[in-house]
Amino acid sequence: GTTLGASAAERGRYFGAAIAAFKLSDSTYANILNREFNSVTAENEMKWDATEPSQGNFSYTNADRIVSHAQSRGMAIRGHALVWHSQQPGWAQNMGGSALRSAMVNHITQVATKYRGKIHSWDVVNEAFADGGGGGRRDSNLQRTGNDWIEVAFRTARAADPNAKLCYNDYNTDGINAKSTGIYNMVQDFKSRGVPIDCVGFQSHLSNSVSSDYQANLQRFANLGVDVQITELDISGSNQAAVYDTVTRACLAVSRCNGITVWGIRDSDSWRTGQNPLLFDSSGNKKQAYTSTLNALNSG
Ligand code: G3I
Repeated sequence: GTTLGASAAERGRYFGAAIAAFKLSDSTYANILNREFNSVTAENEMKWDATEPSQGNFSYTNADRIVSHAQSRGMAIRGHALVWHSQQPGWAQNMGGSALRSAMVNHITQVATKYRGKIHSWDVVNEAFADGGGGGRRDSNLQRTGNDWIEVAFRTARAADPNAKLCYNDYNTDGINAKSTGIYNMVQDFKSRGVPIDCVGFQSHLSNSVSSDYQANLQRFANLGVDVQITELDISGSNQAAVYDTVTRACLAVSRCNGITVWGIRDSDSWRTGQNPLLFDSSGNKKQAYTSTLNALNSG
């Protein structure tokens, strides 16, 4: 193939980008998106603060702009994210206990029902595990409602949109370490008890190198019977092109790796200000990292 999306499709995978609704009117941005990518993730527009700014009042204008852009061009849509400790609306940040649990369940039901049948994969729960060596859960208002909040979120999402793949998504899980093993143990437990989970997202916000067991880590999750997806890839540093090559080849080598999403289009679109971690420069030109990624997709 001659584009990221076409080349990934030839390998049975998607190649996506996180996008912002307000940038769709930027023709340089939209042209790259439409030419290169066959999947999108809303960078912010489907999050809890964006979709339910006051309790029970849902706001979908910006999310709908992304959905209609994607649908009209045959792009898949990753839904991001139904529940997360961050980017909660102010009213939820101050809640706890059964009131927060009910609000969470209602939020998932409403948003997943609104987009039922349109979302390829939902990040049902984002970043619920703690950093560091413990391998345990992150403290948050959601965690304090009870350790079962994650499985309740997944069961609620399954009931609302039975055909979407339901993913758990996190960062600093890009190798075999205490955090990724904590998630691995949760997935194994969910599978053994019939809690619905279909995929694990590996954000892969990387800096100049990638763990030598990156592929082995993806594979151990796949061996549990879930798909794996690279969900927010961006890579800083002088070794960038080589690391994009390694990550892309790792996904291709794991049959249950469905696809790769980069977290933005141009360097100027990145949340990592000044780090230039993406595949297109700020003028929209292809970088060396683009070429190495495309070549990796076309290899083998
Ligand atoms: O929408 C408001 C706007 O009204 C206001 O005027 C402006 C002033 O600062 O802020 C706008 O909100 C910003 C929002 O992006 C939308 O642009 C927030 O300040 C800003 O913090 C927020 O950043 C996002 C961040 O998540 C929030 O945690 C980034 O764009 C987004 O790339 C980033 O994405 C996360 C993933 O969801 C989860 N994994 C990590 C990843 C990187 O942090």
